[in-house]
Amino acid sequence: MKMQRIAVLTSGGDAPGINPCIRASVRMALHMGVEVIGIQEGFDGLVRGEMAPLRARDVGGILQRGGTFLRTARCPEFKETKVQRKALRELNESNIDGIIVIGGDGSLRGAHALSKYDFPVVGVPASIDNDIWGTDMSIGVDTAINTIMAAIDKLRDTASSHERAFLIETMGRNCGYLALNAGVVCGAEMILIPEKEVSLDEISRMVEGAYERGKSHCIIVAAEGSSFKVDEVSEYLKEHEVGFETRVTILGHVPRGGSPSAFDRLLATRMGVKAVEELLSGKTDIMIGLSGRDIITVPLEEVVEKSRIPNVELLDMAKILAQ
Ligand code: ADP
Ligand code: F6P
Repeated sequence: MKMQRIAVLTSGGDAPGINPCIRASVRMALHMGVEVIGIQEGFDGLVRGEMAPLRARDVGGILQRGGTFLRTARCPEFKETKVQRKALRELNESNIDGIIVIGGDGSLRGAHALSKYDFPVVGVPASIDNDIWGTDMSIGVDTAINTIMAAIDKLRDTASSHERAFLIETMGRNCGYLALNAGVVCGAEMILIPEKEVSLDEISRMVEGAYERGKSHCIIVAAEGSSFKVDEVSEYLKEHEVGFETRVTILGHVPRGGSPSAFDRLLATRMGVKAVEELLSGKTDIMIGLSGRDIITVPLEEVVEKSRIPNVELLDMAKILAQ
């Protein structure tokens, strides 16, 4: 039976590009003669029945806006089957035939959980962390890296002027992708990621080495999930007189915001359209992904079992280039 009405929901950490993805899904569905319902505030809003129809004009003017205009939430209770059943009931009572879930790895677990009740679900990967299995890039990653790059370029100006070492922490939860790639594009002297353990002594010797080689600054980009917190590293460097004075900058949520880059708008748009096409063609329990230049589908079962690991070989390259 042809679907008449689908829903779109955004969940977990927001990411730049979610809005263009919602816009593309809504307008593609309308083009295919299907009504769209926007769920407010992720799974939390779904369970509370917070939803309203989305028409073409409702998604006007959001293409260039960061965040998610549907708003988002963390809803830990959604792991409970009784809460999932409540969500299912809300969907059925509103005559919704299928749902597109846009979010990070947690949200995709939620999507997979819903599909187990034989409810048609398609997931779209959106998270600045780029830790989602099955896609080369998630929505929001490119914008976040560009924001981090702009911040580090500025920090390097002041670092060089004062001959200082800067410890710059990026988000990424347990994944080092953002720190690693931002470190490479900013020519960082050292990159600290959870996927590669280093000791405080190794960090200290590297900073000392950079000072002795006559460098005017030492930029260390550290992922939030690394073994040592940036403040701890900074204290250690102060105690060991490494040549440079140190300063710490935690970028925090800054890379989560801002207008999505051209790359993210294009990726989000292609993924949003593909999500609708797949859902309406009867596919379920899948995620939309990017493989090379192609938009693909991956079973959610696979996505929730694995994590995307960054290319740790880039660390050696970055070390050679920071000589
Ligand atoms: P993200 O989607 O950005 O990774 P979270 O990991 O916080 O963010 O997950 C977002 C939401 O997805 C959670 O608050 C919860 O509602 C839902 N979720 C996460 N894990 C599961 C799970 N195992 N089963 C069902 N729902 C989940
Ligand atoms: O998953 C995206 C992310 O921004 C992580 O990088 C970070 O660890 C986490 O979300 C922060 O969560 P919150 O928005 O709840 O502070």
